[in-house]
Amino acid sequence: MVAASRNWRGERLSVGLVPTMGALHAGHLSLIEEACRENAKVVVSIFVNPIQFGPGEDFERYPRDLERDHDVLRKAGIDAVYQPSVEAMYPPGASTRVHVAAVSEGLEGTARPVHFDGVATVVAKLLSAVEPDRAYFGQKDAQQVAVVKRMVRDLDLPVEIRVCPTVREADGLALSSRNAYLNQDERRAAVSLSSALRLAAEAYAKGERRPDRLRQILRARLEAEPLARVEYAELVDVQTFSPPGTLAVLAVRIGATRLIDNHDLSKPFPT
Ligand code: PAJ
Repeated sequence: MVAASRNWRGERLSVGLVPTMGALHAGHLSLIEEACRENAKVVVSIFVNPIQFGPGEDFERYPRDLERDHDVLRKAGIDAVYQPSVEAMYPPGASTRVHVAAVSEGLEGTARPVHFDGVATVVAKLLSAVEPDRAYFGQKDAQQVAVVKRMVRDLDLPVEIRVCPTVREADGLALSSRNAYLNQDERRAAVSLSSALRLAAEAYAKGERRPDRLRQILRARLEAEPLARVEYAELVDVQTFSPPGTLAVLAVRIGATRLIDNHDLSKPFPT
């Protein structure tokens, strides 16, 4: 991977990287399409990163379908799939973690204490292997975006972080590899996340600015759904991920499946 990428850059070809954990869906594809528009060469990495999963999380049962992923990527016309093994990424003795303070704490960081160290470490390693001009991330994982941007600034990494909008199903549910865990009733209940965000954005558009009231609107919609259990529903600043701010962030358990979603309430919710 290092050699291929260096050759491209030697020929003055720009390189885009789209980091993924596979089980590719239309959300991933939107990142890949944007990368193809903006770069001469596009690398997609597929690596289910063990160190970003906590004990008791879904690392073992995380959906994996490499054959299908490769079909999808062949049709997308990218230039390379970077698919390191766990042993290559973390050989015996590997013991360094990248910790991004402040923005990693709270919300996802509280619910999943090792998660962002794992994400920051693997993203740093992927950037170091591919040395892309640009790397592509989804707004779906808003706190991950904030963590990666902070790391890139703090470590002076020579890459531009590009953020792509959340791709949703027709009813509003944000696409996620974890949606595959939902049964029929849970799938219906899962629309409560986007529905709550939409209601809060509508209230904001009508002039509601009180964070307590906006939070209440989010919670009321989620709590109306018997299968949903709210983990958090907060309003935070897009960059720092602490209050005050207009970014509404949700983590909700639908049955045994943990889903997240977010929307900047100062913008209209997409129809
Ligand atoms: P993964 O969940 O596979 O997601 C890969 C990228 O796709 C992330 O940047 C994510 O935000 C984006 N994405 C997921 N669902 C999306 C949607 N509905 N619309 C737009 N973009 C979407 O996120 C990870 O993998 C990992 O943490 C990773 C960054 C690869 C590090 O291991």
